[in-house]
Amino acid sequence: MATILLLSGPNLNLLGDRETAIYGTATLEECVEMARTQALSQGNELEHFQSNHEGDLVEAVHGARNRCIAIVINAGALTHSSFALADALAAYDGVKVELHLSNPSSREQWRQRSVIAPYVTGTVAGFGPAGYRLAVEAVLECTAKK
Ligand code: DQA
Repeated sequence: MATILLLSGPNLNLLGDRETAIYGTATLEECVEMARTQALSQGNELEHFQSNHEGDLVEAVHGARNRCIAIVINAGALTHSSFALADALAAYDGVKVELHLSNPSSREQWRQRSVIAPYVTGTVAGFGPAGYRLAVEAVLECTAKK
């Protein structure tokens, strides 16, 4: 059984309660369950870690090296500012999917740059909670033995 690591950055623990007009009413737990169900459908397990602290997320990326086949990451606001997370992702060799509930490109200017984007395989953004399922589907597509 291969492991996919799902990482959630700052403030995502407040999903379901936080700015619901933008992020919707699903909780983080519900989003994680959608991702997990998709992973399990192809016999993979999904591990989830949420933190409001940059260093914890950097260490979680390190911990996935040579252990997990892929990382799906919604880095929250760290997407736009964390060079440390960008470097950690650059040093990880598996499939990497950047994930956002909203579409940051259509929002405030400061959200329109992702410093992690150059180091990921691809991005899923703007599809709300369904993005959690779509991101895992993208991982499975990339890792399927052809
Ligand atoms: C987010 C978008 C980010 O700009 C924001 O800081 C978040 C959530 C999203 O899922 O849409 O915390 O990553």
